[in-house]
Amino acid sequence: MKAVILVGGLGTRLRPLTINTPKAMVPVLNAPFLEYVIRRLRQHNVREIVLALSHLAQPIEDYFGNGSRLGIRLNYILEETPLGTAGAVKNAENFLDEPFLVLNGDIFTDLDLTAMMDFHSKSRSKATIALTPVDDPTSYGLIETDAKGRVTRFLEKPSWKQVTTNMINAGTYILEPDVMSYVPPQTKFSFEHEVFPPLLEQGEPIYAYPSSCYWMDIGTPEKYFWLNKDLLIGKSNQYHSVEQVVIGEQDNIHPTAQVTGPAVIGSNCTIWQKARLSGPVITGSGCIILENAIIKESIIWHDVRIEPGAQVSHSIIANNCRLGAGSIIEDSVLGDNVTVSSGHRLEPGSKIWPGTIVG
Ligand code: GDD
Ligand code: MG
Repeated sequence: MKAVILVGGLGTRLRPLTINTPKAMVPVLNAPFLEYVIRRLRQHNVREIVLALSHLAQPIEDYFGNGSRLGIRLNYILEETPLGTAGAVKNAENFLDEPFLVLNGDIFTDLDLTAMMDFHSKSRSKATIALTPVDDPTSYGLIETDAKGRVTRFLEKPSWKQVTTNMINAGTYILEPDVMSYVPPQTKFSFEHEVFPPLLEQGEPIYAYPSSCYWMDIGTPEKYFWLNKDLLIGKSNQYHSVEQVVIGEQDNIHPTAQVTGPAVIGSNCTIWQKARLSGPVITGSGCIILENAIIKESIIWHDVRIEPGAQVSHSIIANNCRLGAGSIIEDSVLGDNVTVSSGHRLEPGSKIWPGTIVG
């Protein structure tokens, strides 16, 4: 089976992390998010993938190339302006000759794709949509079904008043190729609003494939953090954390420094005396954490310098930031190359754009 992965969204809700880094490339335990998605497809015998790209395409292509490193054939289709979820797949239509998978590129899930494919062919469905239960369906696409699991209604981003179920579109579809005849070429078009509802009106069989397996959409900094934490504590079957603290190659950790897990420290990091890291904590490669610095429940990307006595908690710090001595950063998200001056306390809840010097 072939798959199309949608990776052309702007990642607006993940800003400032996604100003320079596409959402698909944000690091999860120090590997790009999309790498997990591709590896999982490979495990389910998908051998050929189209990546439908638009915004910030180059870093994705540079990293994955033709896919051979992951044992998969990767093709890239670039939209000059974003064509929406269905418009993006329409671009790949020539490549799609049999039932195929469409994946939202910002979902991490343990969904059994092989079982879903079997279900799709047995149910003679035109489109099969994976469903997952969530606490708050209002930021997703709500899907109602009948007793046999046939979809009866779609409601994208419902208000609380409209919520009738906790089951939502989990962002994985198996589609018959002729579904794409509902999509005009080179036109901005969405599956959620403009393809699935008319298919239903035409009486076409659309089936739901519900599952309560691990599922996370990394659309916001909170959810991005939760995914990293969930993997560290073994909630997904795709990452088995064997050690409480994973130390990278060439790390230099002073004997008086304290690292409490779960924690993953990237390669070539230096942690100076009496620095304290308490998990879940992840640092990328090349970070320097100076004496008495404190990092708690945070994700630090690569080449970040945290100076003496600085305190970071519940925050995400992107690449090449410098947090001055004694600075305090709580509940905040910093883009690349941000400098926080010594002694400065950031307002909790701050989102700081790349390159800013604060304080
Ligand atoms: N190539 C391309 N072009 N990709 C796009 C475009 C586009 O114009 N627009 C969005 N995408 C990609 C995004 O990068 C993301 O991977 C995926 O399509 C879904 O877009 P989001 O913007 O993340 O949508 P959402 O999270 O608000 O809602 C969607 O996902 C929910 C599950 O997380 C919908 O499908 C909901 O129904 C669903 O519940
Ligand atoms: Mg999303």
